[in-house]
Amino acid sequence: MTATAATDLPLWPASTLDHGPFALLDEEQRHRLAGPVTRVRLPTGAPAWLVTRHADVRQVLRHPGFSADLERPGFPLLRPLPPQSESDRQGGFIRMDGEEHFRLRRMLTAEFMIKNVRRIEPLIQQTVDAALADLAAAGPPADLVETFALPVPSIVICHLLGVPYADHDFFQVRSRTLLDRTTSMELVRAHAQELRDYLRELVVARHRDAGGDDLISRLVRDRVATGQLTVDELVGMALLLLVAGHETTANMIGLSTLLLLREPGRFAALRESPHRAAELVEELLRYLSVVRTGLPRLALVDAEIGGQVIRAGEGVIAVLSLANRDPEVFDDPEEFDPYRQAHQHLAFGFGVHQCIGQPLARAELRIALVGLADRFPTLRAAVVPQQVSTRDTSVVFGLNSLQVTW
Ligand code: HEM
Repeated sequence: MTATAATDLPLWPASTLDHGPFALLDEEQRHRLAGPVTRVRLPTGAPAWLVTRHADVRQVLRHPGFSADLERPGFPLLRPLPPQSESDRQGGFIRMDGEEHFRLRRMLTAEFMIKNVRRIEPLIQQTVDAALADLAAAGPPADLVETFALPVPSIVICHLLGVPYADHDFFQVRSRTLLDRTTSMELVRAHAQELRDYLRELVVARHRDAGGDDLISRLVRDRVATGQLTVDELVGMALLLLVAGHETTANMIGLSTLLLLREPGRFAALRESPHRAAELVEELLRYLSVVRTGLPRLALVDAEIGGQVIRAGEGVIAVLSLANRDPEVFDDPEEFDPYRQAHQHLAFGFGVHQCIGQPLARAELRIALVGLADRFPTLRAAVVPQQVSTRDTSVVFGLNSLQVTW
């Protein structure tokens, strides 16, 4: 396909301005993009295949012939890649393939297993309770994102990693830059470097005094000191966990609150039946699908997806949010139905890169939402959904702020 032809293709990510936070595509976009497999143009000008059906998204994500390594020529990037040194590339296993990915991921799997997350539930509860007290002191009205949705997962991941939460302004601003697909290459590079320098200092300090029980200290002791992991790799892993560990869940808490407040009975139901909160969280994950721009992959071999032959060297975007509204899998998919069986959703991805933090994210969401419903029975949004300021250019969709009152 020539560059000129690519300019005629529909643009992905599609603009979501004017849709409000809950609709994914308008009628016209649906007609042009909802596939099942559609040729699109990315913001870099490169063409790619958009894959939107649940079965096809799963096929791409579990296919060993699709790479997640964004350094490969032809990878479908949403923004140009800043130049990186060899040490900067280490440890970020979300963008690695095969054995390289598996070796690093395996060092963390036990950490985030359900039984280990259950052990830290008291910490999550304590963090939620403290943030609820801060919210009460800040309003009414108050910004729920700033006072509650963002601090809860940030404090928890800081505690797990051993990163001082006092530095939250520093790492939150920089995380946001890394996830925003409109940030200039220079700024992405500078902020990634600053975060790495910051984490490297922490790792080196733990090297000198590795007696702590946090994850970085334990990895220094068990993996770095034994020669299984380099300092650069640990820095890259810590960076991935710090960014992935707070932005996604924070955006889910903010959006979930806005959605639940749309119908007053929903918060009351949560208060009366907290044992059903786990089910509700699955439907929130399906319906809100915060990783809205989709997961990029590069075909290394020819493959047929949804009846379309995708050639080796072509890029694919697996759109989790649209797959999560596939009528073949979910009845009335555009409806938010708190008690549907939504567990087949793909909000955490699928295949070898499926989110390692999902038990933690689920526990945080459940405890945060039940806590909020309990403590603020009269909570309501102080703005209508159409007026809230949304993160339209981030690869993790969410709210910039949410004014609430009670
Ligand atoms: C991977 C979503 C919370 C750490 C992923 C992927 C998705 C995702 C879609 C797959 C990326 C890909 O295949 O390219 C979410 C959502 C969350 C959430 C929606 C919250 C509601 C978390 C938390 C942590 C975390 C709390 C950290 C503790 C990771 C890591 C990976 C990942 C390390 C890379 C896994 C790999 O490449 O093997 N997440 N995530 N995530 N997530 Fe999450």
